[in-house]
Amino acid sequence: PEAQQIKIRQAVASRGKRVKVSGWVHRLRVQGKDMMFIILRDGSGYLQCVLTGKLCHSLDAVTLTIESTITVWGVINELPEGKTAPDHHELVADYWEIVGKAPSGDDAFNNKVTPDADPYYLLDNRHLVLRGETASAVLRARAEVIKAFRAFYDEEHFTEVTPPCMVQTQVEGGSTLFAFNYYGENAYLTQSSQLYLETCLPSLGDVFCLAESYRAEKSHTRRHLSEYSHLEAEMAFIKFDDLLDHLENMMCFVIDRVLADEETSKLVKQLNPDFKKPARPFLRMKYEDAITYLKENEIKKEDGSYYQFGEDIPEAPERAMTDKIGRPIFLTHFPAEIKAFYMQKVPSDRRVTESVDVLMPGVGEIVGGSMRMDNREELLEAYGTAGIDPAPYYWYTDQRKYGTTPHGGYGLGVERFLAWLLNRYTVRDCSLYPRFTGRCTP
Ligand code: 4AD
Ligand code: MG
Repeated sequence: PEAQQIKIRQAVASRGKRVKVSGWVHRLRVQGKDMMFIILRDGSGYLQCVLTGKLCHSLDAVTLTIESTITVWGVINELPEGKTAPDHHELVADYWEIVGKAPSGDDAFNNKVTPDADPYYLLDNRHLVLRGETASAVLRARAEVIKAFRAFYDEEHFTEVTPPCMVQTQVEGGSTLFAFNYYGENAYLTQSSQLYLETCLPSLGDVFCLAESYRAEKSHTRRHLSEYSHLEAEMAFIKFDDLLDHLENMMCFVIDRVLADEETSKLVKQLNPDFKKPARPFLRMKYEDAITYLKENEIKKEDGSYYQFGEDIPEAPERAMTDKIGRPIFLTHFPAEIKAFYMQKVPSDRRVTESVDVLMPGVGEIVGGSMRMDNREELLEAYGTAGIDPAPYYWYTDQRKYGTTPHGGYGLGVERFLAWLLNRYTVRDCSLYPRFTGRCTP
């Protein structure tokens, strides 16, 4: 007999009605010969279904397995006090059908991933792991976080653009470029859309993009992917302090937005029960002061010596410092020689640049940004210093020829932001199908 087909998210609103629901068997509990409890999952939620009497006696019923697909007909009831089920409701089945049977025994997939499961097995079976409660919560939160970023840019009147992924210029140094053959010419997968965003300023004003960036990172760390989602923005006629204020506003807007939404804030609590919105203003610290901080707190190099001004602060000491400080840090004014060629130097101290890394406890750097060199001659010189052939960059250099302006922007690693917000050990858990050294499948 016919009944309205609903998604599980509509179950509570359908209380008292007879409905039809389809989904995957997420959990299965058999109680004697005449009762089965199924937690059904359809991606929109979880719903307990109760099967009784002859509904439990068919061959399909006695051989039912986790991850099989079924359709169930019945009335949605609120649960009596003292009983628990998702959303405190259950469907009392009067009829059900199998749609697709999943295997049992050795071939079965257990969607309850245990913390000690072999990571290679989990990565090979990512397509099935996604069905688990944790992975799906992360992906759902990710979608909401991306919505919140877009809402911020919308409120601030930024225009979204879609720059190319196939390029013939580097942005962040040649060592991490993925090169490929483009109709017989050398081309690369983009490391960052920044240079293209800069060219949009005279046309569209403030712009942003959410695009995949590619880095042939040789290092195997918990925060490096070979392909990651890069949220980048660029603004014209700003000062360095405006850039920092904007970044702080953006991150706080997104956190507020995510926590204000009931469903999303539930996901954050499920994944990161201790999450607290960071206090404002965020700490602003100069690179030079970080070098002093490392010294004073005995955070040393592997050889026992201290980091000196002019040296890159690698991942481990950066994280040690950030974890010790325990709140977001805007680390600013990095020396020119350890940063990318395009960064604007500080007029009063030309050793350093108007640059910022945003560091978060537990993860480290999640944002890299700067003011950009706006003087053409200086930029041409910077290509030389970086060993870059200026020819393929003619279009980027032209920005400084046809109406230059002070401008700046940043890139935020979406998986790193999520690893921080959702307290994931590695950015890999925040990517749908993570790519990193030695992994390009599934
Ligand atoms: O610091 P990065 O290299 O800066 C840029 O690419 C600038 N051109 C961005 C800009 O100003 N428009 O990268 C920016 C951010 C990092 O802070 C980090 O969060 C993330 O991108 N990121 C990675 N995330 C995952 N895996 C990797 N291999 C990453 N490399 C950078
Ligand atoms: Mg960086």
